[in-house]
Amino acid sequence: MIPIRTGQEIEKLKRAGRALKEVFETVGTLIRPGITTLEINAEIEKKIFSLGATAPCKGYHGYPAAACISTDDIVVHGIPSLKVLKNGEIVSVDIVLKLDGYCADATRTYAVGEISPEKQRLIDVTRKCFYNGVAKIKDGARLGDAQHAIQLTAELAGYGVVRAMTGHGIGKNMHEDPVIENYGRAGTGPTLKAGMCLAIEPMITMGDWNVGIDRDGWTCRTADGLPAAHYENTVLVTANGAEILTE
Ligand code: MF3
Ligand code: CO
Repeated sequence: MIPIRTGQEIEKLKRAGRALKEVFETVGTLIRPGITTLEINAEIEKKIFSLGATAPCKGYHGYPAAACISTDDIVVHGIPSLKVLKNGEIVSVDIVLKLDGYCADATRTYAVGEISPEKQRLIDVTRKCFYNGVAKIKDGARLGDAQHAIQLTAELAGYGVVRAMTGHGIGKNMHEDPVIENYGRAGTGPTLKAGMCLAIEPMITMGDWNVGIDRDGWTCRTADGLPAAHYENTVLVTANGAEILTE
């Protein structure tokens, strides 16, 4: 069952979204060669708490940090560590926060220093996947319409769509119904209704879409070692479209 949010709940989701936007303003100032992912995570956690919010990722099935910070071939769920960001890498920062009982979830992929045009194109197309997907969202549309638009955008650009990880509904919990694959057929899947809140998050690979999980049980990498990008926002379905709450 996909929850429909009304009145106060929507206000709280919007407030959580605005708080997460503020956290990302801080993240944007931190990304540079030489900083460790652990240092970035510490600043994120501090910012989340300073806003009166909490970090639901921390402790989620034993996950040890507030944020997931994933470089180059790491698709998602990179655990903050002493790893130092290097010039030319790309880094995806994925953050969930909970404010007054409601969650917001977003991810940005950043360039560390100077990156290759190939990596920049991967980041740009991944954002485009998100926007083309969201453009299909409105009351009465089918979820598959958005999923298909994401897949088409990625594959026309020559990229892969990760199958093993998905987007999701979001609200009182960071993961709610429905599961949102980044591929699918238009005209299929649940019918969207105004008040549904969704985390749309294309995870796009430069090469093949197969991934593997490291022995830490979290770190998800491309099998071929080529880079991946990730772009995510929390969006609210409305009568004639979608409102992006985290951007
Ligand atoms: N932010 C991720 C998502 O989009 C969840 C992170 S998994 C956790 O679903 F372990 F870090 F919580
Ligand atoms: Co998410």
